[in-house]
Amino acid sequence: MAKGLGEQNREWFARYKDDVKKEGKAFFPRAMLHDTVMGFVVVGVIIGLAVIWYYGAGDSPEGEGLEPGILGPLYAAPAEPGTTDFIPRPDWYFYFLFYLLRIFEWPETVVVATVGIPTVLLVLLLGLPFYDRRRERRPSRRPVAMVAALLTVLSMGVLTYKGATAEESLGSTLIADGVPKEWAEEQGFAGDEQAEAGATLFAQAGCLQCHIYLGFGAGALGAPDLSEIGQTNDAEYFVQYLANPSRFGNNVMGSYSYLGEENLAALGAFLEASKGGESDSDSR
Ligand code: HEC
Repeated sequence: MAKGLGEQNREWFARYKDDVKKEGKAFFPRAMLHDTVMGFVVVGVIIGLAVIWYYGAGDSPEGEGLEPGILGPLYAAPAEPGTTDFIPRPDWYFYFLFYLLRIFEWPETVVVATVGIPTVLLVLLLGLPFYDRRRERRPSRRPVAMVAALLTVLSMGVLTYKGATAEESLGSTLIADGVPKEWAEEQGFAGDEQAEAGATLFAQAGCLQCHIYLGFGAGALGAPDLSEIGQTNDAEYFVQYLANPSRFGNNVMGSYSYLGEENLAALGAFLEASKGGESDSDSR
């Protein structure tokens, strides 16, 4: 005969109370002793690690405490406040979120990636006890929950890996590799000193964190590929644009007027000379 859910629950609760009476352990002193011992173990491990870290690190030629032991150096190299091409990267446990942001590259969808998806998943997880009321706990009998959990772990793993290995175009690396010079060759403005200076600035000023140029850069936040931008406007227009993007309806890009007139003129010349590489060489 089928029992009602309420009756079944009362039966289970009675059995639980019975179990507690027969096999339960008193909180004092037993559970408290366990907690205390475990507390000492955890604190001991932390102190031990701190000691190994402190005495493991040594001095390197660059400075005191910079030579890493097994648990790393005492200090990192001093911060460089004047850098223009620092690309901030999150700690490893945020790589999945970091990569999610790269997938949702359009400004309107950023909030979906940063707030929307994690919040929806968290609410689903918190709500689990309320919408999954079955008593069945064997993994083999819970295919939906198991597949969901596996997919979550798998996608977080993949996103973390992708985030960890994501290439970023660091301005100083590009310049050291002579990439702006290659651009000049490809676009046919080699020898034009102003445009060449503009190309270097372009690599340095972080434009590639949003824009793509001849295959380099991010293509993020809805920024257009600038490889052929010189076909649309002239240097004067670009200077105006860079000094005050919001006047042209661009509220994503900040103003670059802080670079000064000379640098803006160089960037303008560079953008004007950017007519699209390959397609330009056809006409030569
Ligand atoms: C934070 C991201 C971001 C950065 C950094 C950035 N831009 Fe932009 N830029 C954009 C976006 C987005 C647009 C498109 C705006 C639109 O379509 O209204 C744009 C548009 C432009 C345009 C106009 C393109 C057109 O079709 O007329 C030029 C030129 C440009 N950027 C140059 C630069 C240069 C040069 C730099 C570096 C000094 C730079 N941008 C840095 C996001 C960025």
